[in-house]
Amino acid sequence: METLRHIVLFVHLIGFAVLFGAWAVEAVNGHRGITRLMSWGLALAAVAGLALAAPWGIDYDLNYAKIGTKLVILIVIGALLGIGSGRQRKSGSVPPGIFWSIGILTAANAAIATIWR
Ligand code: HEM
Repeated sequence: METLRHIVLFVHLIGFAVLFGAWAVEAVNGHRGITRLMSWGLALAAVAGLALAAPWGIDYDLNYAKIGTKLVILIVIGALLGIGSGRQRKSGSVPPGIFWSIGILTAANAAIATIWR
């Protein structure tokens, strides 16, 4: 059970890496668009995160204030990806505020995950 939880945590981290990595590529290549890889990373992090939010395979209590905060931030990132890709389809570019918020909020969720105990 404990090993399975570690595998789900691994999948959760892959989701985070795909989302943040895809965003970082766009940030440095100057295009600053939204790609399908970002949505796939978010979906992977969300599914694995929800599985980890249930207390199985651990002998300590989960911090539900932290998990709830991460869930709200994830929903906001999902909304920004949706709005941003809609704008990208219409006008060919993503408003900078939306693009930068996606990366900052993703990094914030990773910081909350690792620093908030
Ligand atoms: C973009 C969104 C997210 C990012 C970047 C992210 C990042 C991370 C990272 C880096 C860890 C490893 C921390 C550690 O083990 O010390 C982690 C663990 C975890 N995350 Fe997320 N996460 C995200 C969304 C979510 C969501 C939506 C949920 C649940 C609703 C969630 C629930 C969890 C849980 C339960 C753990 C493991 C905590 C434990 O078992 O001690 N995450 N997350």
